[in-house]
Amino acid sequence: MRPRFFSLPSAQLANEAWLARGDGSSGPRLAIIGVGMMGREHLRVALLLGRMRIQGVYDDHAESLDQAQREYRKSTQMTLNVYPSFEALCADEAVDAYLIATPNFTHSAIFERLIKSGKPIFLEKPMATTLLDAQRMVTLAKAHPAFVQLGMQYRFKAQYIEAFHAIKVQQALGTVHTVAMSEYRPPFLNKVGEWNKFSHYSGGTLVEKCCHYFDLINLAVDAYPVKVYAQGGQAVNFIDFEHRGLSADIDDHAFVTVTYDNGMLAHFTLNMFCQELYEELVITGDQGRLVASESSSFRRGVNSSAKIQIEASAHPAYDGMTVTYPSAIENSGHCGATFFEHLAFLAQLEGDVVDAATPAQGLKSLLVASAAQRSLATGQVVFMDEFCAQEQVSWPC
Ligand SMILES: NC(=O)c1ccc[n+]([C@@H]2O[C@H](COP(=O)([O-])OP(=O)(O)OC[C@H]3O[C@@H](n4cnc5c(N)ncnc54)[C@H](O)[C@@H]3O)[C@@H](O)[C@H]2O)c1
Repeated sequence: MRPRFFSLPSAQLANEAWLARGDGSSGPRLAIIGVGMMGREHLRVALLLGRMRIQGVYDDHAESLDQAQREYRKSTQMTLNVYPSFEALCADEAVDAYLIATPNFTHSAIFERLIKSGKPIFLEKPMATTLLDAQRMVTLAKAHPAFVQLGMQYRFKAQYIEAFHAIKVQQALGTVHTVAMSEYRPPFLNKVGEWNKFSHYSGGTLVEKCCHYFDLINLAVDAYPVKVYAQGGQAVNFIDFEHRGLSADIDDHAFVTVTYDNGMLAHFTLNMFCQELYEELVITGDQGRLVASESSSFRRGVNSSAKIQIEASAHPAYDGMTVTYPSAIENSGHCGATFFEHLAFLAQLEGDVVDAATPAQGLKSLLVASAAQRSLATGQVVFMDEFCAQEQVSWPC
């Protein structure tokens, strides 16, 4: 079974993926760097899929390691191999692939060390906190004999698989003209060292969180973003929050407009002072409109719900349909998207071409996010040509 992602409807993809699970006794050996919230989600998903072996993990925070050890033991009745140092992890020749799930500001240094191995790398989003680092990483990845996959797994949420299937495979909307994406959610969660409360460590909210959405928009539009305008700021969250003498400086709401060189317009809305999570993507073409949405919650026991509505002549989803993954997949993390991200990684390890994010696509999402961040700070429209020249980076081909 080879995952084909956007070429299949999400239900078929989920059936095939579930049947292809293994028992964890064979497969490539994975080493995980960083076992905080996201690293442990990757550990759980790898165990659920059972098609990779966990060769070992490295983290410098005892509590994260204890939690990872507990979860691993509970699931496998075995002891998780913990490397005593990052260098010990790098020296383990039995590792087949690396997964980096450390805070954003650490990505570039860890990536640049691991890429020397010549082995495949999975790197969490955003790839870096500065554009110069990200561009250097793209260059390194180009010369790398193995692949690098970025953690932009929202692509694999059921409703977006359906959306990309509709616009790219079925061409159900004709020529697309507008894309509107929104996210409403509660504030950022606690992190080890509170790195996500400070732009210096996270890259800023539009980079840290919203690179996912700029990736989805870029994918739908597939063109060069000529100008970006953003309004927003920090209105409610972490206003009085301090950590080690630093005041939190992260935005909690924004409206961003992007004009692409093919005439397409995109809009992104962010609001992070809500009780529940709601995401929506609306794409409109000359032959129809689609609405892909997801409702989810940080409350325990509340399942997410994903829907797609495709108002295009005689489309089976014209009146809308629920496309939520089966609960075992949906509950495994990020509404099931991480599960498919691992399948994509496995497929790449087997030499397949998949719809996972590349370093170049990671840089593109970072460029739009950073231009929006700049526009927020200055109140001015940011022209991408000028912005790239100032930042000494190029829009990747
Ligand atoms: N793809 C997604 O949807 C998604 C969701 C959440 C987080 N993330 C990304 O995953 C990464 C980790 O986020 P998180 O939520 O797990 O944060 P976290 O703070 O919960 O965990 C980070 C872990 O990395 C460890 N760490 C820090 N520096 C390290 C180093 N140099 N070497 C080894 N370990 C180190 C910390 O001790 C901690 O255990 C971030 O880049 C974040 O943006 C992605």
